[in-house]
Amino acid sequence: MSEDVVIHKGLENVYVKETRISYIDGVNGKVYYRGYDLEELVERSSYEEVSYLLIFGKLPTKRELYNWIADISSNYELEEGIIKILREVPKRNSPLDILKYSLLTIGLWDEKINSLEREDLYEKIVKILGKTPSILASWYRLRRGYRLVEPDPNLGYAENFIYMVRGEPSTRDAEIFDDILILHAEHGLNASAFAGMVTISTLSDLYSAVTSSINTLKGPLHGGAAGAALKMFREIGSPDRVEEYFEAKLARKERIMGFGHRVYKTYDPRAKILKNILLGLDLPPDVDRLFRIALKVEEVGMERLCKTKRICPNIDLFSGLVYLYLGLPDDFSPAIFALSRLSGWIAHILEYLEDPRLIRPRAKYVGELGLRYIPIEERG
Ligand code: CMC
Repeated sequence: MSEDVVIHKGLENVYVKETRISYIDGVNGKVYYRGYDLEELVERSSYEEVSYLLIFGKLPTKRELYNWIADISSNYELEEGIIKILREVPKRNSPLDILKYSLLTIGLWDEKINSLEREDLYEKIVKILGKTPSILASWYRLRRGYRLVEPDPNLGYAENFIYMVRGEPSTRDAEIFDDILILHAEHGLNASAFAGMVTISTLSDLYSAVTSSINTLKGPLHGGAAGAALKMFREIGSPDRVEEYFEAKLARKERIMGFGHRVYKTYDPRAKILKNILLGLDLPPDVDRLFRIALKVEEVGMERLCKTKRICPNIDLFSGLVYLYLGLPDDFSPAIFALSRLSGWIAHILEYLEDPRLIRPRAKYVGELGLRYIPIEERG
């Protein structure tokens, strides 16, 4: 009771393991995946290669990449049972909720659902990575009453997703989507990666660990921030109302979505890349209108939050706008985040399994002790 303990609220600055997966330089605004600069990976690599890099710790050889892509794409097709469920469930459900239940359900078909043996884990990983885009694209189409599009294993990961959503491929938009996937693929031991790690620390199974991560991603402070930022741009309505919106929000001590980060105390480099992508696109008028508001929010936020309080633009200031440009509605943003982040989560789960220990922190008890039990009849 009288223990002298330090409480680390939000686990800020608590280190729970060593990692070789990624490094966020929050002072200089740089991110490294397995030692490689994220900006260079976006420029020169593909999501397939980056997911291999994150999960296996090195860039693949030509043969390794070929096999990796073949193993993932041979899993694009969904079980008839999953498609049946997707057809049946109410269409109001969010893509993220659909994804988590579908992945758990896919686990039910896996005879070795609980195995943590390396070869079995490999089979599960390519299954999860292969089926996730198909689940999301199918949900996109079923909700609209469109016929489903069969996956095309000859297309790359990003291109196949765009194809399954639209019914026709687009090399240009697939390249943008590939950048989005790389940018979101990994980001250290954030809340969702930690949740997956807590689950696997009990030696649970991969499907459960990944869905723990998805559940944790859902909130507006994490994976829901891109959608919340879009909502904010719509509420603001026009660039000349941004200052007034800031005044009111900050006076009420409310948060500006798309700003702030536990690790970055400077402009998130991923946000810069997304902003440049948007600047280079011919945006449809509705997206362009919101982008102009976002740019004004960025300008005002730089003065009011970033320069003074080190609460700076993060990836979600612009990511929702890129999704909108690609034709994906607001509630798809956390699901696309999850689709990309699967490789980072899986990398953390595998890394933890190399030297596992049950995660079991403590809470300092500050309640009473020795109270007399009062029978219910005497409690009034
Ligand atoms: N707007 C206004 N004030 C803010 C913001 C913001 N976006 N973020 C933090 N603050 C203030 C907060 O009100 C608090 O002020 P005070 O000390 O006066 O009470 C102070 O900064 C510290 O806040 P905190 O919540 O303890 O800081 P944190 O490190 O836990 O915050 C965060 C990280 C991402 C939860 C927070 O910045 C936030 O809520 N941002 C808005 C949501 C958002 O954009 N999330 C996406 C994050 S990037 C994608 C991802 O990695 O998931």
